[in-house]
Amino acid sequence: THCILIGTPVDEGQRRAGCLMGPAAYRVAGLASTLAELGHSVEDRGDLSPAPGRGQTCANPAVHHLPETIAWAEAIRAAGISAMEQGMPIFLGGDHALALGSLAAAAAHAHALGRPQFVLWLDAHSDFHTVQTTQSGNLHGTPLAYAAGRPGFDPFPPFPAPIPARNICMFGIRSVDGAELAALRETDIVVNDMRVLDERGVVAPLREFLDRVRAQDGLLHVSLDVDFLDPSIAPAVGTTVPGGATFREAHLVCELLHDSGLMTSLDLVELNPFLDERGRTARLMVDLVGSLMGRKVFDRPTRSF
Ligand code: ARG
Ligand code: MN
Ligand code: MN
Ligand code: MN
Repeated sequence: THCILIGTPVDEGQRRAGCLMGPAAYRVAGLASTLAELGHSVEDRGDLSPAPGRGQTCANPAVHHLPETIAWAEAIRAAGISAMEQGMPIFLGGDHALALGSLAAAAAHAHALGRPQFVLWLDAHSDFHTVQTTQSGNLHGTPLAYAAGRPGFDPFPPFPAPIPARNICMFGIRSVDGAELAALRETDIVVNDMRVLDERGVVAPLREFLDRVRAQDGLLHVSLDVDFLDPSIAPAVGTTVPGGATFREAHLVCELLHDSGLMTSLDLVELNPFLDERGRTARLMVDLVGSLMGRKVFDRPTRSF
């Protein structure tokens, strides 16, 4: 695989500064060499920077950094589309607001190919607010609603090709606000919250989703939020929620994704290196990318799903 690293140091989607150091931390933690050792070619396109904000406003007074976030989304979408035509983009966040751009890029690229886009959302949070419903005003809590075509994103460019709800699968969810829950109940999005993963494990729910992606010849965007992981193994994130995925669950998800051969683009988001302990979260994220891209302890025939 030709891996295209795109640094997206977005920090405006939440209030705790530090995610802008994420791309640098992934580079220091050895992301490129990890990919190269697995036999992939790696092209690091450096860090994006957005155009200046254009002063857009909205009716919700809580929302902050709206013009800056829109400018980021536009820059990420443009860079993402060209990368998707050439290889597999890996967006090095930056907070989750970057997915306002990466999902738009993926959807536009899939639409141009005439193939359906799917999304696997690995996160403690559903990030299903609109610009109107967010109470924190933190726009990192909105990208999935934008991608699903929910109304309430007037200041943003229209989402290129809204992703059908049934093509979206959430994994690891354990913090959902009231307005998000009400909206999610009206959709067909598959919400694999921690209760589901506790009862069923990660393999069966993931297999069900990947079977659908494969059956429809879909493209798959994976969005990995650091807070998907339990805070005891991944402390470097501003929005920790107890009870997250374990080390073993997270690696298994990544290995199964690799075996499927379906992933076409990837976000690594919400790493705040300022909150890390001697780089352990950055290193864990890089190790998970290793599993996503083919690292295994022992070669065994790929189990067909
Ligand atoms: N639902 C909360 C909010 O809207 C938390 C969002 C956290 N999102 C994230 N990408 N970490 O403020
Ligand atoms: Mn392509
Ligand atoms: Mn998130
Ligand atoms: Mn989250």
